[in-house]
Amino acid sequence: MKDAQPKTIYLKDYKAPDFLIDQTDLHFTLEASATVVESRLQMRRNPDSASTDAPLVLHGQEMRLLEVAVDGTTLTEDGYALSSEQLTIHKVGDRFELMTRVEIDPQANTSLEGLYKSRTMYCTQCEAEGFRKITYYLDRPDVLSEFTTTIVADKQEFPVLLSNGNPVRCGDMEDGKHFAVWHDPFRKPAYLFALVAGTLECVEDQFTTCSGRDVTLRIFVEAKDLDKCDHAMCSLKKSMRWDEEVYGREYDLDIFMIVAVDDFNMGAMENKGLNIFNTSAVLANPKTTTDAGFQRVEAIVAHEYFHNWSGNRVTCRDWFQLSLKEGFTVFRDAEFSADMNSRTVKRVEDVSLLRTLQFAEDAGPMSHPVRPPSFIEISNFYTLTVYEKGAEIVRMIHTLIGAEAFRRGSDLYFERHDGSAATIEDFVTAMEEASGTSLDQFTRWYRQAGTPEIAVADEYDQNSGEYRLTLSQSCPSTPEASSEEKLPFHIPVAMGLLGDAGNLALKLKGETPDAETEDNTHRVLELTEVSQTFVFENLPEKPTPVLFRGFSAPVRLQFDYSRQQLVAIMSRDSDGFSRWDASQKLAVAVIGDVQGAYIEKGEGDHPVDALLVEAFRAVLNDESLDPAMVALMLQLPTEAYLTEIAETAHVEAIHFARKHVRRYLAEQLREEWRAAYDRCLQEGEFSVTAAAIAERSLKNTALGYLSLLSEKQSIDLARQQFAQATNMTDEMAALAVLVNADQEGADSVRDEALKDFYTRWQHEALVVNQWFVVQAGCHLPGGLERVQQLMQHEAFTLKNPNKVRSLIGAFCNGNAINFHRPDGAGYEFLADQILTLNGLNPSVASRLLTPLTKWRKYDPQRQGLMKSALQRILKEPELSKDVFEVVSKSLKE
Ligand code: TRP
Ligand code: ZN
Repeated sequence: MKDAQPKTIYLKDYKAPDFLIDQTDLHFTLEASATVVESRLQMRRNPDSASTDAPLVLHGQEMRLLEVAVDGTTLTEDGYALSSEQLTIHKVGDRFELMTRVEIDPQANTSLEGLYKSRTMYCTQCEAEGFRKITYYLDRPDVLSEFTTTIVADKQEFPVLLSNGNPVRCGDMEDGKHFAVWHDPFRKPAYLFALVAGTLECVEDQFTTCSGRDVTLRIFVEAKDLDKCDHAMCSLKKSMRWDEEVYGREYDLDIFMIVAVDDFNMGAMENKGLNIFNTSAVLANPKTTTDAGFQRVEAIVAHEYFHNWSGNRVTCRDWFQLSLKEGFTVFRDAEFSADMNSRTVKRVEDVSLLRTLQFAEDAGPMSHPVRPPSFIEISNFYTLTVYEKGAEIVRMIHTLIGAEAFRRGSDLYFERHDGSAATIEDFVTAMEEASGTSLDQFTRWYRQAGTPEIAVADEYDQNSGEYRLTLSQSCPSTPEASSEEKLPFHIPVAMGLLGDAGNLALKLKGETPDAETEDNTHRVLELTEVSQTFVFENLPEKPTPVLFRGFSAPVRLQFDYSRQQLVAIMSRDSDGFSRWDASQKLAVAVIGDVQGAYIEKGEGDHPVDALLVEAFRAVLNDESLDPAMVALMLQLPTEAYLTEIAETAHVEAIHFARKHVRRYLAEQLREEWRAAYDRCLQEGEFSVTAAAIAERSLKNTALGYLSLLSEKQSIDLARQQFAQATNMTDEMAALAVLVNADQEGADSVRDEALKDFYTRWQHEALVVNQWFVVQAGCHLPGGLERVQQLMQHEAFTLKNPNKVRSLIGAFCNGNAINFHRPDGAGYEFLADQILTLNGLNPSVASRLLTPLTKWRKYDPQRQGLMKSALQRILKEPELSKDVFEVVSKSLKE
């Protein structure tokens, strides 16, 4: 380990900074291996600090200090102390200028934090703590400063020089160099700093804000990608308009820029006025990008743009408050996507992700509250819990106080905290004040980890027409607290009651009906006690309860629905989300039958409940349904989800059972699948409207089923689609089918398709990544060997995070049957990759670890093998904080 024992940082230790930085003046002279950064900081003691004579302690890592001066006087070595992470200046006054000059090596920076080179360009990534690799600074989000940045670089090689804010001036210098000066009038923490230099082209557009100001919009890319910027630009303009209309938020600078870079640890970064994007999160055109890719670009462009208010204008006091900006911004981007496309489809996709991956995280060794109480390495806390569960918490506030109060609360929050660093309490307080509702108990959602479980008991009395619904909550133990220690959550339960002919009127006993409520078949109950009974009156028949409509709270619902009840909800409930949810529950039950049979008797022609076939048939034949919903309802739950809901996951049983049920549905419904496929064939112009995407989704779902039929010709349809596709969605769907086909003669078809695809797309990195993903996901035997071979492919490199995720990540997370092979070779392979990446890019290495941390889900044999792979990693002497934290926590009993 670099430091003997990495230190844990605690929220309870938070202290206001001893110093403030009013002005930050940076001067960069860019050279690949010896970039010089000169910084002038106008500093003063913080009146809110507890100390009046504290020494000045600055963050700084991996730099060579060339000079340090206070108020123009260069310090000698006895004036300061230097360690691997800090520069301490013993004596400073109350107000002074600090000058430092450092040399850094962007060329050698493979961590992709701080200043680094991506292909031919320089770029930065400062969140969370990357700025300290650029210059000595108070690298904490509660120190806000006004930045001026000068960049000097070779003019030929780096014609474009960008930083935050507005361009001030630029000009030529001697030796073929040139310079540019940027000034950002908005005070900001260092994590929002950005710099870019390179040979870049740009697409430009204009946006007129609600108050009539013109904003220049630019997307910078390498010349070869100029044909992939339109969708992002269009998404940006929609986001700007939406934030004005829905949140009253106007953009504040005269220019907004996005830069696409190939080597990037995450999706994108919201640096003030200069967002930096992973190419995979911004580039899109129909030829190279799938529908899912288009929607991802739209969502991420919106997400980063929305951060301009929720994150930048109002930022976080400390990193424990990360969900303040991320949870809120994910909620904002989800609502934006829902408004732009299909609301129900978006909700189903988000809930699937949450229930499959966030629930698993919350039940595993890395489980933490949405506001974690401590961390070793903050990069490890950019998690599904902070982002997605954080967004669910904001959604619950929205549900509890209503849209109008929520908007007033949001206005109050932005107004009150504009230009400052806030906490989660500040956000909640604004919502409380605006709504007049206490959210005191509600804030436990931020402090208690784990997914609450809701048990339901119901009882109907024919004579009185009363229906008693008892909801009880509990929450499993997590590392920070045992189940017994946890206090009850405040849970909004959006619900309805379903009768034979449809939804029933809801009247709670003792409540006078509200004449103004239009829809008396839907309401939100508030569960605040450990157990609560709700009594409904005037019910003519025993109803089926439909609970957590729209997934109104991130909980596990435990209710033993009969299969008939699920079919009823699937076909008749008014809430699209609940209809989908019921279809999944029914599928889980039916797949469960086959899993049981497999465990008992091994492979075989086990029976599949005909109820599922008939329910699917009804959905397929219902042309009044949105085809996107039909597709979602007919896609069986993933192996990852089936694993997550199992107590102990039986890898082979899950794989066999899901495939077996899919095959059975393919055969039983072959005419219907074919009809759906033909119905959704599109002629005319390609478009990415929700309607067009929906048709492709259903068509390709049908294709997937049709290609499972055992006869040799059943893959001809996919072959034909692959050959004739005019867009990447259809092409990729067909390729995925061919790659997984096991009919007679499929091997040569697959090899040919893969070769042909690569030949055509080898110059499009993002398409090649998709080519890695499909192959990594191929469930036929020999998966590990195929992945190992692909790692030798000319297009693969461990230095590019997208490639790592596309090949290694896709294999370990999405190909259970091969990754979890019984001899543990998959685990050893992953451990090897993590050990290599640990030295190259700790944050990517640490994220890649996730599948190994889930060892508790598996049988004792596999548990042993997974743990021994983790133990081998832990023995590495030079382990990064990132990897150390995850491995050590996941091995704790
Ligand atoms: N703030 C970024 C977002 O929400 C997340 C991010 C991008 C990030 N790059 C990072 C976080 C690198 C940590 C490290 O979109
Ligand atoms: Zn974000």
